[in-house]
Parts: sequence; structure tokens; C-alpha cells
Amino acid sequence: MPGIVLVGAQWGDEGKGKATDALGARVDYVVKFNGGNNAGHTVVVGGEQYALHLLPAGILTPGVTPVIGNGVVVDLAVLFEEIDALTARGVDCSALQVSANAHIIAPYHRVIDKVGERFLGKRRIGTTGRGIGPAYADKMNRVGVRVQDLFDEHILRQKVEGALDQKNHLLVKVYNRRAITVDEVVEELLSYVDRLAPMVRDTALELHRALGRGDTVLFEGGQATLLDVDHGTYPFVTSSNATAGGACTGTGVPPNAIDRVIGVAKAYVTRVGEGPFPTELHDEWGQRLREAGGEYGTTTGRPRRCGWYDAVVARYSARINGITDLVLTKLDVLTGIERIPVCVGYRVDGRLVEEMPFSQSDVHHAVPQYEYLEGWTEDVSSARVFEDLPPAAQRYVLAVEELSGARISAVGVGPEREQTVVRHDLLG
Ligand code: IMP
Repeated sequence: MPGIVLVGAQWGDEGKGKATDALGARVDYVVKFNGGNNAGHTVVVGGEQYALHLLPAGILTPGVTPVIGNGVVVDLAVLFEEIDALTARGVDCSALQVSANAHIIAPYHRVIDKVGERFLGKRRIGTTGRGIGPAYADKMNRVGVRVQDLFDEHILRQKVEGALDQKNHLLVKVYNRRAITVDEVVEELLSYVDRLAPMVRDTALELHRALGRGDTVLFEGGQATLLDVDHGTYPFVTSSNATAGGACTGTGVPPNAIDRVIGVAKAYVTRVGEGPFPTELHDEWGQRLREAGGEYGTTTGRPRRCGWYDAVVARYSARINGITDLVLTKLDVLTGIERIPVCVGYRVDGRLVEEMPFSQSDVHHAVPQYEYLEGWTEDVSSARVFEDLPPAAQRYVLAVEELSGARISAVGVGPEREQTVVRHDLLG
């Protein structure tokens, strides 16, 4: 079972980091294939909380080789800050490998992300402001700077010049900001070269060889299905492919090397930033989920929008990603709710629909249709096998499984690594 993809099945923050971490030492490589430091994984190990933004969650497990694939955009300042912070807490980061083809988030990307959002006003996307979109835009525009470019100053200077050419016009004439000089950017990027050099690899070749040896490689998706630039709620999405297909393009590993696709979904739904969210709760129930679930962003600290479980979204994610196993997280947050609504379809302009509408306007107008499942009051946080869960919680899990079109293989009942009910081995 060597090639396993793990993706978010909703709008992000489903607890992918914990799921990766739980697979732990049984995995040889953990590879990040998309996104950058817009991600935020909170992992709790032995009572210690780690917030990771750029590094793959596998970095916390000794013996695992963490890899940053070509599909990732890398902010080098953040990379080394994160490495330094983890090293200071005793985590060994020396095995980290970075693809020579990954693109760099340069200082101008961060500036453009922030001023661009301000400029959009009411039409803003609510980005994390980390320069992710502008870095991917440059990649597609073929004016990006890649990790490998840092090792040839002449090339680096040429590429930065090319990238800044139009951007300085935009910054000065449209956004009323100061121009950014080629020298300041080149100088900053070169300051990382010595530390970066030992990590840089042809990671596609490395992974090809690892899979050939029968090693277990976990491809860890950042963000989530509904934030995917092609399959999400465009334009309120991130700028990369967060779905399972992104694992191939973002690492150089072919589709037939993928044996299993694990989707991670919360027992309810959250979203940060703007964009449609059919089951969003604007009342005290939303507030209750936010407080009980600690729903504040790991990266930006923003309060997350909260809503009931949406089986339309789950079915869509199962289909787009080919999910073989669903990990349902944060079941404990629902404890104490008498009747738990689960969205089974939408009413769109008078019509009942069971599948995600392809028209963005329809998603904006979708009114959730709920079934109500019986809740439970017992503490579930110490459950480790399915039978430990109170009968109503078991029925909730089974009903969600039936509605979502994918088997639920694990259920999260608390933040700690061990607080998981395993129904089917994710690697077996
Ligand atoms: P960007 O990725 O910073 O460009 O932001 C685009 C959208 O994706 C915004 O709505 C962000 O809030 C959202 N987003 C980006 N990364 C994450 C994440 O890790 N979790 C949840 N939402 C995210």
C-alpha cells in the first residue's frame, strides 16, 4: 500500500495534520504537494501543541522523510523560521527535502496579495495575505522564480528583473506603493542559499525510487477540495490544486502510483475567508460550534465560519478525489446537541438537488435541506473503538457514512494523537 493521498474534503482545517501525524512512524515519506504557508496544521503530541504552516506534518515523526514537492510555493523566511522554532523544541528537521522545481514566494508577492485584496474591497477573496495567489500567478505566467534559480545569481537577477518589470508599474501607478528594487529581492533570496542547498533535490526521482522500493509515501494536501482552483467554489478558492490529482502534478508521481485516497472531514463544517457556504450558521449554534471546536485560524487567527455537516459537499469530494477512506474529525464537539442537523440536499430556486450545482450562482442560492439525527450527552473523548461510542454517536457516524458515499475509517474524538476511533486500518 505504498502511495497514499490525504486531502481535505471540505473548506480546509478539517484536521489533516492530526490524521497525517496519526499515521506516524508507519509512513516513510510525507510529501506536501500544493499550497504554501497559507496552511495551518495544529498537531498536539504529548500535550505539546505544534502549529505548522509550511512544513509537512510528518516532520514531527522521527524516521519520516518530509518532502516539499514542486507544486508548493515556498516562502524561505517562513521555512527557516519554522525549522528554527521546531529545532529549538528538540525536533530534528535535518531530513527535509525541497524540490528544485518548487516556486519561491518573493517579497513582492506578499505585498501584491495584501494591497490587491484591499483594492478588491467588497469583492475580496479573504486570502491569508501570504503571497500565495501572486506566486502561483507568476508560475502560470512563466515569470516565477524557482528554488533552483537561487543557485545561479545571474539567472536569479534576470528572473527577478523580469518579474518586477510589470509589477513595479502596478505597485506604483495603480496601488500607490513604493517600487521594489531587484537588489533588495536578490539580496534577501541569496541570504538563504547556504542553508537551503543541502535540502534541494530532484524530489520526483527520489519519490519514484522510494515507491519502487515499496516504501510508504503519504501525499499531504494543503487546503481542501472546495478551495481547489478548478473544483472549488471559484473564485473563492486558493490558487492551487488541493484535490487528489494535485498529488501527481505537484510531485511528479504518476496516477498509477496512488493506491488509496484518504479524505478528512469535520463532523460539521467550517470555512475561513469569503465565498458560498450553504450550511453556514449565523445564529448562536454557529457561535457554539466555534467555541466548542476552538474554530479560530491557525495561520491568521481569524474566527472560522461554522455550519452543520453537508453531505452534498462530502459526496462531491468523494467523487472528485476518489476517496477510499473518510476520516471524520471532531465528533466530540457535537456532544450535548439534542438533535443534530445534517444537510442531505439543497433547494435551489424551488428545485431539490442532491449533487453540488455546477453553477456558482446556484451554490450561492442553495438552501440546505436537513435531516435531524439524535444527539448524545455522554463524553466521547476516551473512545478508542467504535463500540466505545454511545449508541446515538455510532448512529450519527453510520448515517453520515451512508450519506457521504465513502466509508468512515477513523473518527476523531479529541485533539490528542491517541484520541481516535479506528474502524479500518488506513494503511492496511
Ligand atoms: P490564499 O490561499 O491565501 O490565496 O486564500 C484563498 C482562500 O483560501 C481564502 O478563503 C483562505 O481563507 C482560504 N485558505 C487558504 N489556506 C487555507 C487553509 O489552510 N485552511 C482554510 N482555508 C484556507
